[in-house]
Amino acid sequence: MNLLGVVSLKVVVQSGLCCEKIFPVMVSFKHLTPLMLLALAASAFLFGQSHTAEEAGALLFRDKGCVHCHGDGGLGTPKGPALTSLRTDKLWSPAKIRIQILNGGQKMPSFADSVTDEEAAQLVAYLRAKNKPIPPTQ
Ligand code: HEC
Repeated sequence: MNLLGVVSLKVVVQSGLCCEKIFPVMVSFKHLTPLMLLALAASAFLFGQSHTAEEAGALLFRDKGCVHCHGDGGLGTPKGPALTSLRTDKLWSPAKIRIQILNGGQKMPSFADSVTDEEAAQLVAYLRAKNKPIPPTQ
C-alpha cells in the first residue's frame, strides 16, 4: 500500500468514527425533540398564566382603589402601608393577604363585595410578584 492509500484509509476510518459518534446523538435528539417542545410549551403556558395573573392584579390594584391608600406600585402613602415586601414577609402568606383584601382591616375597607375570588387571587399574585408589572396609565 502506498502512502496515498494509507492516508485515504485513515481519512475513511476517522470519518467513520466521527459519524458513529454523531449518529447516536442525532437519534437521541430526534426522540428528545418532542419532549423538549412539550416541556417548553408547558413552561411557556405556566409562565404565561402567572404573568397574566400578575398583570391583571396590577390593573385591579389601580382600578379597585388600592393605589389610593397604598400608592403606585404599593409604595405606601400616609393612608396605607407599603406593600412592597409582602413577597418575602413570612407573616404575609398568600392566604393571609387574601383575607386582608376580602375582610379589610382596622382602617382598610373590606373588598369582599367588590372583588371576586379570581380577582383576589390576581391581586395576591400581583402583590407577591418579584417584579410588579406596571399597569398602563389610563
Ligand atoms: C382606605 C385606604 C385603603 C384602601 C382603599 C386599601 N387599603 Fe390595604 N391597607 C390599608 C391600611 C390602613 C392597612 C393597614 C392595616 C389596617 O389598618 O387595615 C392596609 C393593609 C393592607 C394589607 C396588609 C399589609 C400590611 O402590612 O398591613 C394588604 C395586603 C392590603 N392592605 C392590600 C390592599 C389591596 C389589595 C387593596 C385594594 C383591593 C387595598 N389594600 C385597599 C388601607 C387601605
